[in-house]
Amino acid sequence: MTSHSEHILAVSGLRKTYKLGRVPVPVLHGVDMAVKKREWVAILGASGSGKSTLLHLCGGLDRPDRVKGDQPKPKIVFEGRDIAAMGKRDLDRYRSRNVGFVFQFYHLLPELTVIENVTVGAMIRHGRFGYMAHRGESEKRAKALLESFGLGHRLRHRPAELSGGERQRVAIARALINDPDLLLADEPTGNLDRTTGGAILDAIAEHRARTGLTILMVTHDERIAERADRVVRLADGRVIEGSLPAEIGPSDPEIEVGTMPTPDAPGR
Ligand SMILES: Nc1ncnc2c1ncn2[C@@H]1O[C@H](COP(=O)(O)OP(=O)(O)O)[C@@H](O)[C@H]1O
Ligand SMILES: [Mg+2]
Repeated sequence: MTSHSEHILAVSGLRKTYKLGRVPVPVLHGVDMAVKKREWVAILGASGSGKSTLLHLCGGLDRPDRVKGDQPKPKIVFEGRDIAAMGKRDLDRYRSRNVGFVFQFYHLLPELTVIENVTVGAMIRHGRFGYMAHRGESEKRAKALLESFGLGHRLRHRPAELSGGERQRVAIARALINDPDLLLADEPTGNLDRTTGGAILDAIAEHRARTGLTILMVTHDERIAERADRVVRLADGRVIEGSLPAEIGPSDPEIEVGTMPTPDAPGR
């Protein structure tokens, strides 16, 4: 299915409430936001403002609140398809093919080598048996990615033998193994010193220049957010700045932001 939208991702009316025991904890209060193809967008906000929650929803790691009655449904439209309405199977496919995740604390598997940590993403995508047919190709791609991130000499090492910056490069290679359209990065340099973090952002920027990857990156740091094309500011679960391109009004329940006609692309 295709969308005529210039947006790769458009979310609208997104609400999320956690429960602590019986106590509801509302975290997102109706977020509207869109990301254009090939854009690098930073979600900037203080700790606890809901950034990670928003990113997890965009990546299909969690579900938005359901709405009752005739309230507008929350939407997370990726390339014309609403992932908020997807069943588990389609959502699994979305997660393994369309998006790649990078987390602050790398989340590498300590018992696997560097190259195995990267090919694991391909294994998840193809399944244990399907992977046999893709193994050679996946290892080649993993090696090429790791070389492009300056880790060609570390392929057989284990994560414990690497520096923090090196570990994060491995995690980024893992996120990119299935050639996703969208990279979702949650404070990817939050655990690194400024120089090492800067080099990580350079590596991401170089990869993006080569491939046209779209990036949605979460940070609490203004200086890191400056690396992006555009900043979306989040405070207390609401977008307070930069939510959407100018042609769309925020919080308008009539508007499905993912399917808006744009001046240079005919509507459907
Ligand atoms: N699983 C959860 N259960 C309950 N509360 C949560 C959960 N995850 C996050 N929260 C709360 O939601 C708020 C926003 O969290 P988060 O999205 O992680 O913010 P940020 O990434 O901007 O620091 C915080 O107050 C946090 O304590
Ligand atoms: Mg967070």
